[in-house]
Amino acid sequence: MSFSILFFLLLITMATADPLRPRYYSETCPEAESIVGDVIMKAMIREPRSGASVMRFQFHDCFVNGCDASMLLDDTPTMLGEKLSLSNINSLRSYEVIDEVKEALEKACPGTVSCADIIIMASRDAVALSGGPSWEVKLGRKDSLTASQKDADDIMPSPRANASFLVDLFAKFDLSIKDLVALSGSHSIGQGRCFSIMFRLYNQSGSGKPDPAIEPKFREKLNRLCPIGGDENVTVDLDATPQAFDNQYFKDLVAGRGFLNSDETLYTYPWTRPYVKLYGKDQDKFFKAFVEGMIKLGDLQSGKPGEIRTNCRVVNSRAVDVLLES
Ligand code: HEM
Ligand SMILES: *[C@@H]1O[C@H](CO)[C@@H](O)[C@H](O)[C@H]1NC(C)=O
Ligand SMILES: *[C@@H]1O[C@H](CO)[C@@H](O)[C@H](O)[C@H]1NC(C)=O
Ligand SMILES: *[C@@H]1O[C@H](CO)[C@@H](O)[C@H](O)[C@H]1NC(C)=O
Repeated sequence: MSFSILFFLLLITMATADPLRPRYYSETCPEAESIVGDVIMKAMIREPRSGASVMRFQFHDCFVNGCDASMLLDDTPTMLGEKLSLSNINSLRSYEVIDEVKEALEKACPGTVSCADIIIMASRDAVALSGGPSWEVKLGRKDSLTASQKDADDIMPSPRANASFLVDLFAKFDLSIKDLVALSGSHSIGQGRCFSIMFRLYNQSGSGKPDPAIEPKFREKLNRLCPIGGDENVTVDLDATPQAFDNQYFKDLVAGRGFLNSDETLYTYPWTRPYVKLYGKDQDKFFKAFVEGMIKLGDLQSGKPGEIRTNCRVVNSRAVDVLLES
């Protein structure tokens, strides 16, 4: 085939960017949303934590060049993807749950539902199935043709990040202080590794001392679970009710029982503290702000062309890529 025919094929397989809208698949794949919900429910019955692990994908996908499923691409000989980036390596998990959703959707409606939309639907379902709010999701995203380890490294915050840094980072995405605090409430479910808090437990800001914001009883517990020289892959609950999506996370922050530095500093930092207090007292206000934040997060787009991947881990047009490079 000549270069121009291949290029033409590439163009027609890359749909143009439609605006996102609710019920995008109502005609092309009416069962899409119920299929996603079903697979997520089964995964959470098998392993409750998978709900948290899957909903975290929305953050890690949408922040790095928009919600385009770039973070699901495996590395190739010519592309270092996001899976081994600093924030994702040994940390993001449950990729296989997304594969399962994709397989079910490919059976029902081949080549129709993007991996990027799967992440958005699956996150919503994981929150709702954990007892949190539910909401209508806008759909119609396309999947990226590339991923960038460097972009993920440059953009995603480290577990050492503090609230003032995060306020600035979120502002770059047009997300407000309120959005930051509400979205951090996603840490109402799931777990983190000792690796992410060793510095706070033993050497905050290079002082050789623990972070004074940690409540002493909680610190004892963390010291026991995460001793110096111990296995830093051991995981610890992010709040006192790690399977329930509720406002316990905010109550814990007020009590000095936040797991991550990025969590506890939301309470110690004056600009974010009022929201932590408010959401700790009023779960409905938290849910409402969380939903608004998730919708804004889901609206982040790169504006780059894309495709509907058949396998979320690889682009459809690898063959064309290789040819164009040569
Ligand atoms: C505000 C900045 C944020 C920072 C610095 C941050 C950082 C982290 C870290 C370090 C972990 C534990 C990872 C590990 O130890 O392996 C974690 C877990 C998690 N994060 Fe965040 N996160 C942030 C915001 C968000 C947002 C916006 C969401 C979702 C909308 C989210 C969802 C989650 C979930 C659900 C988990 C638990 C995952 C599991 O159990 O597998 N995070 N986060
Ligand atoms: C927050 O983090 C930023 C950037 O890492 C740092 O410059 C600043 O000193 C930190 N603020 C506090 C209060 O620790
Ligand atoms: C604590 O952190 C400081 C500064 O980052 C470093 O120089 C020091 O070696 C660390 N101490 C320990 C015990 O890790
Ligand atoms: C954690 O587990 C991963 C994957 O099994 C391993 O490569 C890594 O070295 C471990 N990290 C620590 C800090 O023990």
